[in-house]
Amino acid sequence: MMRVLTGIQSTGTPHIGNLLGAILPTIKMTKIYSNPSFILIADLHSLTNIKDSEIIKENTYRVLSAFLAFGLPLDKVVCYKQSDVPEVTELAWYLSCFFSYKRLTLSHSFKEKYNQDISVGLFSYPLLMASDILLFNAKIVTVGKDQLQHLEITRNIADRFNRKMGKIFVLPEAKIQEEAKSVPGTDGYKMSKSLGNAIDIFCSKEDLKNQIMSIQTDSKSLKDPKDPDVDRIFSIYKLLASKEEVEEMRERYLNGGYGYSQAKKVLYELILNRFSFERKKFHIFLKKINYLDDILHFGAKKARKIAINTICKVRKALL
Ligand code: ADP
Ligand code: TRP
Repeated sequence: MMRVLTGIQSTGTPHIGNLLGAILPTIKMTKIYSNPSFILIADLHSLTNIKDSEIIKENTYRVLSAFLAFGLPLDKVVCYKQSDVPEVTELAWYLSCFFSYKRLTLSHSFKEKYNQDISVGLFSYPLLMASDILLFNAKIVTVGKDQLQHLEITRNIADRFNRKMGKIFVLPEAKIQEEAKSVPGTDGYKMSKSLGNAIDIFCSKEDLKNQIMSIQTDSKSLKDPKDPDVDRIFSIYKLLASKEEVEEMRERYLNGGYGYSQAKKVLYELILNRFSFERKKFHIFLKKINYLDDILHFGAKKARKIAINTICKVRKALL
């Protein structure tokens, strides 16, 4: 059975990178397969970053509302909060006994922050993610490019476990949205909630304008021809606009007499128009806390049935 699964941390409001790299591809996949896809809101992972339960809760609702605003078909998904499935932390412990410490030190989530006083939680982050995936025998995991290494680690652990203990886990595969595998932020680095370089789809018009106006460009003057392929405004615009619109902007860049602030204005209008329906929906869902809680409780109930089944097999194999 082809099970699709994805996870998204409750570290903030989903941005354009999350949308194009994970949310839309996941919604598309849910419609392809007849069995339900799994979407987990990784609140345990977000604890490596945030130590405030109110903020984590609020972010959880924001992530769920974003999926719903973009038309998540609730009859085809199991949507739950990671912390509602305690089996995930138990499995993470078992998996930690099958993976080498040395290899985990090579994981980029750890390496990038090596010189800082990072927590054990951040160090073992990939193991918790492996557990999210293996607990549900997911075959297809829809993620952005930054998660590929975590998927490799997951496959490696599953393989080691299966070889030693008998075949229990399915080896998952990453499903990457090629053209949006790493959406750049306003500073040109990968757009990320934690880097302050995100373009937020659901914020106020004013904030959206400020975020777009802060996109960094080179210092070419209005009249100079510009290279669209190295420009950050264009690289975001081309992911959202139609083919014709992209060609039109490309021409304008190449011809000169077209300034970056004009391009930013066009990008701003495009985001407002393209997502006007979803922006409204998001805020409507965000107010329906009871409805959101019901979705998560119902999802957790379903998810736990599968989780308990897997964890029983693992316990039996190990202890
Ligand atoms: P963030 O890095 O903003 O905290 P998450 O780590 O919660 O976001 O990522 C959730 C999903 O969105 C993951 O599948 C991740 O690969 C994807 N994603 C995050 N940022 C981007 C981006 N800039 N481009 C494409 N996909 C992204
Ligand atoms: N680590 C992922 C991220 O930062 C979020 C995540 C947690 C996840 N568990 C998952 C993604 C399981 C896919 C599958 O983006």
